[in-house]
Amino acid sequence: MTALRDDVTALPDADTLGGHTARQLLRLCETVGLGDDDATVYARTLLESLGTVAARPLDLPPPNRTFLSDDHTPVEFSLSFVPNAAPTLRVLLEPGCGTAGLARNGRTGLRFLRAMARRWDFSTDRLDELEDLFLPVAPHGPLALWCALELRPGGVPQVKVYLNPAASGPDRAADTVREALHRLGHRKAFADLPDAHRPLFFALDLGDWDEPRAKVYLAHHDLSAAEAGRLCRTDGGPPAARTEEFFRIAAGLEPGLGADEGQDERLTRRPVQSCHSFTETASGLPSGFTLYVPVRDYARHDGEALARATALLDRHGIDAAPLRQALSAVTARRLEDGVGLIAYLSVAHQGGHPPRVSVYVSSEAYRVRPPARLPLAEPVPVH
Ligand code: TRP
Repeated sequence: MTALRDDVTALPDADTLGGHTARQLLRLCETVGLGDDDATVYARTLLESLGTVAARPLDLPPPNRTFLSDDHTPVEFSLSFVPNAAPTLRVLLEPGCGTAGLARNGRTGLRFLRAMARRWDFSTDRLDELEDLFLPVAPHGPLALWCALELRPGGVPQVKVYLNPAASGPDRAADTVREALHRLGHRKAFADLPDAHRPLFFALDLGDWDEPRAKVYLAHHDLSAAEAGRLCRTDGGPPAARTEEFFRIAAGLEPGLGADEGQDERLTRRPVQSCHSFTETASGLPSGFTLYVPVRDYARHDGEALARATALLDRHGIDAAPLRQALSAVTARRLEDGVGLIAYLSVAHQGGHPPRVSVYVSSEAYRVRPPARLPLAEPVPVH
């Protein structure tokens, strides 16, 4: 197979949505050490997920007002790190981004996933069982269906699907999550979840996973470090002090990390998110816990966000050099000239595995958010 990187005639122009994001993906693949054949398969898959909007010139507005990223690029990258290994590259996609309306958006997403399931020979049964809950005829926002691919060596990604608990109405979101967990056999799981403002996403692992997870993402508005430390409901999860430390590093509350003088100890702009994952049905207990801090709303610019990511990786004994290379693979701009390239920082704890640090990297295909001035006072509108 000719490497797509060397055969740019096979790519849409660089100033189109697909051309731009596929080139970012190809450069990222190189950064994490994926071979040309794998990179080609993954870039083609990204283009396929975009469908006809892959060829859409970037000087037109984004295809829809997707909530996937701040500038409405329907693609977001992330790198996931454990000590002594190359980071894993992932990409989050909205296959329905080119369709009008959320109902069609969801249908298109489902069709894309089913095509991937046929190609890579995995089952969508777990998703099919939940279709009526998350893909009703007249869905509510803010999303219908997203899909994430973990880009492993070998050209067969691991697949995750993200659904909207509020699809059948925001007031039904908690019931929708409870019912979905129940149908998957996690009958006691809902009661285990911490109190939260609202459920934001329901996710499923599809395909070739050792232990496929069902995951519930909750938004926690105005959270403090101490409260964050108490969110985890897994058996033998991280000590509260560990989570508090992560929160403080990511929020810039540790000295030297760009703390906003007088920064409220609570994160009042965009909510922190927790995620509990469920793999086994016997105990009802979650087996994994992840905390996500939207670093972009608590930093002046990406130089500051990178310093926090670096401090966090350091704390886990992980080299930050691949992250710096990844940022250069995505953008040529100076980190100080904008904020939001690094969207979130997270630490994931799954029993029996070392903690994983993840850094979410925006495409910025449409727009770079200008650096913020301090104090960061304005609450950002949240969907
Ligand atoms: N853009 C949305 C948000 O900021 C959704 C999202 C994209 C997200 N990537 C994420 C949420 C990573 C949590 C973690 O909330």
